[in-house]
This record gives sequence, structure tokens and C-alpha cells, in this order.
Amino acid sequence: MSVRRLAPDAVQPKSFAFSAENAAWAKTIISKFPEGRQASAVIPLLWRAQEQHDYWLPKAAIETVGSMLGMPTIRVLEIATFYTMFNLAPVGKRFVQVCGTTPCRLRGAEKILEICRSEIGEEKHVSADGQFSWLEVECLGACCNAPMVQINNDYYEDLTEENFRTLLADMRAGRPVKIGSQIGRTTSEPATAQSTLQDNTLYDGSAVGSWRQAFDERIQRAEAAKKQAAEEAAKAAAGGAPSGPLADTPQQPKPQNTPQPNTVTKPAMPESTAPQSPASNQAAAHTPQAGATDDAVPRKSQSKAEPFVDDGGPEAAPATLQAAREGKADDLQLIWGVGPKMEALLHSMGFYHFDQISAWSDENLRWVDRRLDGFKGRARRDDWIGQAKKLAGGWRPTGKLSDRPGQ
Ligand code: FES
Repeated sequence: MSVRRLAPDAVQPKSFAFSAENAAWAKTIISKFPEGRQASAVIPLLWRAQEQHDYWLPKAAIETVGSMLGMPTIRVLEIATFYTMFNLAPVGKRFVQVCGTTPCRLRGAEKILEICRSEIGEEKHVSADGQFSWLEVECLGACCNAPMVQINNDYYEDLTEENFRTLLADMRAGRPVKIGSQIGRTTSEPATAQSTLQDNTLYDGSAVGSWRQAFDERIQRAEAAKKQAAEEAAKAAAGGAPSGPLADTPQQPKPQNTPQPNTVTKPAMPESTAPQSPASNQAAAHTPQAGATDDAVPRKSQSKAEPFVDDGGPEAAPATLQAAREGKADDLQLIWGVGPKMEALLHSMGFYHFDQISAWSDENLRWVDRRLDGFKGRARRDDWIGQAKKLAGGWRPTGKLSDRPGQ
């Protein structure tokens, strides 16, 4: 890899000229650069010359490109010998570049190299039938699917001794071959089953800026706690209470699970329908951490979310379930504003199905909103009832980038 020389004179052609089509293309490329900067076109021209000349660069092509760009030959040679994408000697019709870097090596690249030696021949030599040549190279950036090879312009990944031998045999026989993973996985997803990156909000752009909302909420909580502490300290001083450090009258930030003040009518919570302990306790204990992005995702409809303002209206506890019907909950994350954490919170409150949410009354909605610790007001703001009605009626998004029920 380190020493890169031009091919011996015996295989060098006497001259090189671009085809008429490539010459016209080269002219266009050169014209894109300002006067005096034509040398900037050297790499695309060398690449096109290589493509035209069976994927290797003869000395004559290097000289031709140099004269087209007004560059000394040595300057073009420096580039052609530096970048390993330029082949300086003939290669097979199928040029196999085998990744021999650590991840691929740990996953069996040694065997792939052995097969190249036995099926094709020595490295950097074209097989007798002209079909193949091979070269060991450094990481080609497909380590997740190691071991892998590049053959001409395509990657072949998840290789085993068996499937690599089959691949070479199919190519030699002119049979169609499969590009990419040879074991059927899509791109570089986990080899077993997809277990990550399943939140649709990762793909529709709505997760962008979620940190900002979490940050704003944290600041609001801190400011409210500070204000309350100052007010109580002033009250204590006015009432003749002993002045001194706040340690005498410890001030705590208002608990996040405390229902909204004064205006809230205590909900009627019949035992049969109110969220049951410990589920309700779990819900109450749910306090998102600063910086959590999970359910703090601003959706398209709420990119400039405002703090929750309680309208003080009456509330009523909705009907809840102890568990999902038939052990299978609906995918509540299909509702805008519901991510994995919010879904867990809803489950802990006794909500598992779209039809439960779609049946909420205005009072129920208020009851829920007041208990979405850290996310209060989200249910009304994102019209969960309307969304749930649509989903309960069978509507589903058609893909990761498709509409949501709120659209
Ligand atoms: S190590 Fe082989 S592709 Fe990265």
C-alpha cells in the first residue's frame, strides 16, 4: 500500500486520448474553475481517464491530463500516486478490494484473503482469465457489516467463507449477484432484529430542538422555586418570625406531582375508576430529568410550546384499566406528543388503548393534563382526543415520514 509505482513499460500504452464524449465532459468540468485554477479539475479528469482505461491509469493518461490542465507531469503524478483510488497497473474486470482492518479482521477477513489467494491468485495480479484481481485495503467504512469487500463500485458485506466463494463463482459465471449484505439485513441494522431508532419522531424532524423545551421547563421550575422561597422569607420576616438562614424554614421547590393550585376541584375518583396504587404512585413519581428529550419532543404543531396555564375548570377522573385488554396495548406513540416515557406514564395511569382516550370528556382531559408531570397541558394542546379518535377508527401512518393523526 505504501509504495505505489507506475506499471512496467511493457504494459504501458504508447498514448492516451479521451473519447469525444469524455473530452467534452472534461471541457465542461475545467470551465467550472476560474482562470488560472484549472488544476482543480485534476482529480475528476484522472478518475474519468481511469474509467475509460479499464480502471487503471497509464502514464500516458497522467501526461495527457497534465497537459490539458497546464500542470507539470510531476504534479499530476504526485496526485495519482498518493490517492489509492487510482490504480497504477492493470486490474481484473472485477477488482476486489478486501478490507483488512481490525473490525473486519476480527470477523473473518483472514479467511476472505485466503479465498482471494486460492481463487484469484497473488495480490495485485490479474487472474489468467482476466476476470479478477485483488488488493488488501484499509477500512472502507462498513465495519458494522464486517467482513466486507468492495468489488468495482459496490460493497459486499457480512461475508462468510461460503457466501464469498459463491459470490466469486457467480460473478465468474455471469450470474446476477446481490450487492450489500449477503445475509439479508437492511443496511447496518442489528443482525438479529431492529431494536433501536424505532421512534418515528427521529425521522420526521419533530425531535429537533427538544433539548430547548426541557431546558426552558427546568429554568421555569427553578425560577418558580426561587420566587416562592423569597415570598415565604418575606412573610416570615414581616410576621416577626426569627430571621435567619432558610434552613430554619426550609423551602422546597413545589413538587411536580402536586395538582394545580386552588382552582382545581378535587376530582371524584371512584375506586373502580381512579388509577390504582402503585400505578398512580408511579405516575406521581414520574419527574422528567433536566435534559431528558424522550417525551419533551416538540412536534410540528408545538414547536414553540408555551408553559401550561391551568384554566381552573372542573375535572373528572376518566375510566382506567388495570392492564391492557388481552395483554396487548395499542401503540400510543402514534399520537403526537407521546414518546416512550409518556406512553409508560399513560400505562401507569391506566390508559392503554386509543378508544379509552377518544372517550375522554373535557373534564377527563383536564384531569389527565394536570397529572402529566413535566408535560402538563400536552394532552389538550396536541388534541389527543381527536388523534385517538382517528387512530381508534383504524387510521395509521403509511410510513416513518408520513402524516400523523394530528395532521
Ligand atoms: S474495518 Fe472493515 S470496513 Fe471498517
